[in-house]
Amino acid sequence: MKTDAPKVIKLSEYKQPDYLVETIDLTFHLDSTKTLVQSKMTVSKNTTDAAPLVLNGEELILKSVKINGEAFTDYKHDEEVHTLTLNRVPAGSFTLEIENEINPEANKTLDGLYKSGTIFCTQNEPEGFRRITFYVDRPDNMAKFTTKIIADKKLYPILLSNGNPIAKGDLDGGKHFVTWEDPFKKPSYLYALVAGDLGFIKDTYKTTSGRNVALEIYCDKGNEDKCHHAMESLKKSMKWDEDRFGLEYDLDIYMIVAVDAFNMGAMENKGLNIFNSAYVLADQKSATDGNFYGIESVIGHEYFHNWTGNRITCRDWFQLTLKEGLTVFRDQEFSADMNSRSVERIQSVLGLRASQFAEDAGPTSHPIKPATYMEINNFYTATIYEKGAEVIRMIQTLLGVDGFRRGMDKYFELFDGQAVRTEDFIHAMSVANDNFDFTQFKNWYGQNGTPLLKSTSKYDEANKRLTLTLTQSFPANAPKDAKPYHMPVRVGLIGADGKDVASKVLELKTPTQDFVFENISSKPITSVNRDFSAPVKLTTDLSFDDQLFLMAHDSDSFNRFEAAQVVAQKLMLDLIQDAHAKKPLELNAKYVAAFGKVLADTTIDEAFKALSMTIPSEGILHQELAEIYYPETEAVRDFVMKTLATAHQDILLKLFTSIDQKGEYKLDPKAMGQRDLKIKALNLLSMVDGDKYKTLAFDHFKSATNMTDEIGALSVLINSNSSFKAEALKSFYTKWKSETLVMQKWLSVQAVASDDSAYDNILALEKDSIYDRTIPNLVRALLGQFAANNKVQFNHPSGRGYKLVADRMLELDKLNPQVASRLASGFKDYSRIPKDLQAKMKPELDRIIKTDGLSKNVYEIVSKILA
Ligand code: ARG
Ligand code: ZN
Repeated sequence: MKTDAPKVIKLSEYKQPDYLVETIDLTFHLDSTKTLVQSKMTVSKNTTDAAPLVLNGEELILKSVKINGEAFTDYKHDEEVHTLTLNRVPAGSFTLEIENEINPEANKTLDGLYKSGTIFCTQNEPEGFRRITFYVDRPDNMAKFTTKIIADKKLYPILLSNGNPIAKGDLDGGKHFVTWEDPFKKPSYLYALVAGDLGFIKDTYKTTSGRNVALEIYCDKGNEDKCHHAMESLKKSMKWDEDRFGLEYDLDIYMIVAVDAFNMGAMENKGLNIFNSAYVLADQKSATDGNFYGIESVIGHEYFHNWTGNRITCRDWFQLTLKEGLTVFRDQEFSADMNSRSVERIQSVLGLRASQFAEDAGPTSHPIKPATYMEINNFYTATIYEKGAEVIRMIQTLLGVDGFRRGMDKYFELFDGQAVRTEDFIHAMSVANDNFDFTQFKNWYGQNGTPLLKSTSKYDEANKRLTLTLTQSFPANAPKDAKPYHMPVRVGLIGADGKDVASKVLELKTPTQDFVFENISSKPITSVNRDFSAPVKLTTDLSFDDQLFLMAHDSDSFNRFEAAQVVAQKLMLDLIQDAHAKKPLELNAKYVAAFGKVLADTTIDEAFKALSMTIPSEGILHQELAEIYYPETEAVRDFVMKTLATAHQDILLKLFTSIDQKGEYKLDPKAMGQRDLKIKALNLLSMVDGDKYKTLAFDHFKSATNMTDEIGALSVLINSNSSFKAEALKSFYTKWKSETLVMQKWLSVQAVASDDSAYDNILALEKDSIYDRTIPNLVRALLGQFAANNKVQFNHPSGRGYKLVADRMLELDKLNPQVASRLASGFKDYSRIPKDLQAKMKPELDRIIKTDGLSKNVYEIVSKILA
């Protein structure tokens, strides 16, 4: 018999907790398979109703319950629904003591307390704490925590938790203990514990007001030298938050621990961040520029959460974007200030489009503030995070940087120490800015679907007047009663000499609106939605030549980049239809020439040039197709790259060879841009017929002195199906097999290989000793990449790609439902794939949904795909 559909949780049914925990003292007797947890809480009633005390608890062995020091037996432990219900508890405040046992080693969900290799660690957001002990496990229950950790001193010399250490000592039987106290009230999702024989590096930071903060980064022994970039990033983050937002760190110690087994990127636990090792460990030899960049941004992200997330947290999980959208916006601004602002903006918009736009058009589309969920872990999405950040960015665009800062100050003044809602954030922004009216702006929070924006213009020669008409509309999957958005649209008018004749932020509020510009002496070219001021899909009345003009002249670097994307996308979509109709392919000569101009332009920097050489990805093109033709899309992309490369091979080769990498290895934007440009040039060149450039790629691979070049060249060799491919893969493996983070890259480049051997190769790689399906990074590197980014092979006409991923999802669902459910996203194109593919995919989706004991995580996603 199939399990019932999981219960739907609704925002509209929010009720305050019936009981609140004021303090909790925890004692852990750590043991890999039998950890005893003793919890002593002060609890008080928070309702006048005659309600029992219901605690959450999952996979816990209950040992004893005491109230006010006396054994208590009037309870029901329901392991089906994961609750412990205590009846007839005292009316006033009382102490509740609970003892329970857990098995960290058997816990492969990586939620609650578990072991990553030999290290004990925790992940409690959103609902992991209930796997540690019985608790009112929700963010609006904020308590003061102390923790005593008792463990074997040899095996676990380092014992960490939140706050400050207040006592330590040796105990009998080779054991020792450390006691930690966190002075700040917090929800249980920010609780953390770590124990192990860890390596570490230490540093200090002096805050603006002169307090010294100890900084400590922990990792597996032997990896200490790979923690320095993370430490530098942490210090930069601390300084940046002081400078930009006036926010100082509030404890005497800030710790980061890197672990290999982790479901997500990282976690902002108070004073004790726990990180996926991929976002901490890096050195020149083993990490790419992308890794270094990502580490700086994630270290920043978690650090910034200390104020936006920890000091002010969420009332309930429907408010997730309150902390995540805001903190992503903050980390994006940090990255922009530390690196190149225009590159950062382009990269984040590309990321938004690749993942969030796709999500928002598909079966799991949801607003940044959803109204319902089955499993909250499924809502740590590109929408809540990245679209949420765009919504915050629009607030800053509407209020200006200073007005936004005043709003942030007001937010902390009003809500520090509280668990609040997105409305409270908006309220602070408004009252700090002359009661700015956000009534209509709030539509961004409750409506799903990427809005469409159309721009047309009319020039009135006689009156020297330009009228710009902006029209907004909703995509097909938006709510039936969707209301128009209040959107800031940054616009520039460009004269024939390429200079701006006007530039301003327009506020569009109605479905369609005219904006008049006076004293415009000749017909300008319009540049609309500069800097991607609103997260919309824009169409314009600009001609092909107008776009080429923007490509050459727009003072807004985002729109200069964008113009090339618009042109390429239009051409490629037409070519895909041609390919589908089996017509010969031909690439527009004007575009080929314009592309060459960008390559030859000596006034643009390397990073921007490298970005401009990137043509729209397969995923972006798929989004525009009513019926998705995977092989045709891939073939067109290859054709376009090959045509561009063949036409411009001389200049590409010149770009490649003129950048000399002999000097010292640097991580500044210039050096990173140069490496990127070299790889992009090599990648295009490798598409040219013949062996010449493939040999060049193999040489680049062999002579690489850093991972950016080494993995970049390896992936070029694989994509071009070069005869050097096997040799390169083998030597890379031999060199790096003991470094799991590098092996993850090696798996990924093979998982996305476009030729038919990818499938058999994946089956073989799963058996390799470097692979371990209990480590999410490895699963994502292999199967996740295959399902998400190898669309041609995943959608193989035989259906074997679907079967493989469905099989693995079901196997993994028994171990780690979060990882299983994320693999399901590969199936999200279901309603738009050709009929013969649907006939292969449908039975796999049915098989999954009919499986006994399926997790809520997978059920929720697959049922939405099938709906
Ligand atoms: N709050 C973390 C971050 O964004 C993410 C934690 C998500 N964890 C999860 N199991 N869904 O930094
Ligand atoms: Zn976050």
